[in-house]
Amino acid sequence: MFKPKTYKNSTELANLSGVPIYMHDMIDAALRSRLNTFLQGNTGSGKTQLVRDVMHYLPKSLFILGRNDMDTRELFQQVNPEFLRAIKTGEYSEIKFKELTDKVNYNLIGVDELPNCVPAVRAQLFNLFDGFIEIDGKAYPIGSGYSVGMATGNIGQQFTESSNELGRALKDRMHLIIDTDFFLPKPIDTLEMLTADRNPRINFNDSGEDKTEEIIKKHRELQEREVPFEKYILASYLIHGLDYLSDYGSKTALKSGWPNKLEGHAAGSDEALILPVSPRAAKSIIALSQALDSIVEEKGAGPDYFVSMMTAFKFASAYSGILNQSAVMQNHDENPYKAMDAVIDTTKAQFDSQKDLIDAGLDMARQGQEKQKVLKDFSGRWGFMRNLLENLAKKDENTR
Ligand SMILES: Nc1ncnc2c1ncn2[C@@H]1O[C@H](COP(=O)(O)OP(=O)(O)O)[C@@H](O)[C@H]1O
Ligand SMILES: [Mg+2]
Repeated sequence: MFKPKTYKNSTELANLSGVPIYMHDMIDAALRSRLNTFLQGNTGSGKTQLVRDVMHYLPKSLFILGRNDMDTRELFQQVNPEFLRAIKTGEYSEIKFKELTDKVNYNLIGVDELPNCVPAVRAQLFNLFDGFIEIDGKAYPIGSGYSVGMATGNIGQQFTESSNELGRALKDRMHLIIDTDFFLPKPIDTLEMLTADRNPRINFNDSGEDKTEEIIKKHRELQEREVPFEKYILASYLIHGLDYLSDYGSKTALKSGWPNKLEGHAAGSDEALILPVSPRAAKSIIALSQALDSIVEEKGAGPDYFVSMMTAFKFASAYSGILNQSAVMQNHDENPYKAMDAVIDTTKAQFDSQKDLIDAGLDMARQGQEKQKVLKDFSGRWGFMRNLLENLAKKDENTR
C-alpha cells in the first residue's frame, strides 16, 4: 500500500463502499494498473513532492527536470550515457541499441515540469513512460519489465485549447490527468507540513524503502483478477451509448457539428456535454477500476463495480478532451470534475433503468438464444446492446 513519506493530503477524491480514496490511493491505483499519470496544478501544491515520494518506493527510477534547452541527445544521455557513445563512435547498429535499451531498467520515469520540454523530447518521454525508446523509427523496449510514468506541470487553460499541441499530446499519451487544484490539501495537512520543517525545498527521502517487488506483484495480480462482465457493459456504454444522438445518430459522425448543431432538449442534456470515450480510454478505465477494487478490498470493504467504474471514468476522462469545454465553463463552475459528476448521475439513472433488461439480455445470450422480444427493448443509447447480445448469443451457441 503506497503511503507517501512527505506529501500530505486528506481531501477525498472519491469514496468507494465507504472507503475514502485520497490522492495517494489514486496514485497507488495508477501504479498497480500501470497507468501513466500527469499531475496538473498550481505551484506549491506538492506535485513534485508526490513524484519524489513515489520514487522513494521505486528506487530504480529516473528523475528528469523538464527544460526547454534539453534536446533528445541529452535525454538519451540521461537515460543511459552509453547511448551517446554508441552514436558518436558509429557503433550504430540495431543490436547495439537493443543491448543498451535492455540495460535500461527504470521502473518509474518521473518528469517534473514536463510542459517545459520541447515536443521532440516530450515524444521520447511518452515512449519511455510506455516502456520503450524509439531510435530511427524503431521501438526498443526497455529492460525493466515494469515501467510507468509520472509527470507534473501547470498548463491550466491550455488544456482547453484543442489546437494546442501540448494539450493534445498529453491527452493522447497520459492515461490519467489529475488537476490537483481541485483536491488541495486541507488546513490540517498544511499545518503538519509546516510543523515538520521550515525547509521550502523538496524532501528527497533518500533513505529508500524499496516497494518495487510489492508493486510489481500487485500489478501481476491485477492482470489475473477477473473483470465482472458488467464492467464491459458499462465500458461499452461509454464507447457507444455516449456516442448516441437522438437527432443525428452519432456524435462522432457529426464531426465538428458537435455540440453546436444540437438543439432543444439535446442541447441541455449530456448529449451536448460529453463525447464518447475511445476504446483505448475504456481500457484504462477498466484497469483503473480493477485497481480501485483491489484497494477497497485491502481496506476491508466489498467492491462496487458501478461506483469504481464511474470513479475511474471521472478521473481518466475529466481532462481527456471529451467534455464540451464551454458547457463546463457555463454550467459547471469551470470544474470538469463537476461536469463528470453530472454525466455520472445520468449514467447511473440510465443504467438503473436498464438493469433488469440487461440481466435478461445476458441470460438470453448465455443460453445461446436470440429473443427478439428482449432485443427490441434495447433502444436509443442502449441500442448498442442488440449487436452485442446477438453476437454473444451466437458465440455461446457455437461453443456449446
Ligand atoms: N501536500 C503537501 N504535503 C507535504 N509537503 C508539501 C505539500 N505541498 C507542498 N509541500 C511542500 O512545499 C514545497 C513545494 O512543493 P512542490 O512539491 O514543489 O509543489 P509543486 O511541485 O506543486 O509546485 C516543498 O517543500 C514540499 O515538500
Ligand atoms: Mg513542482
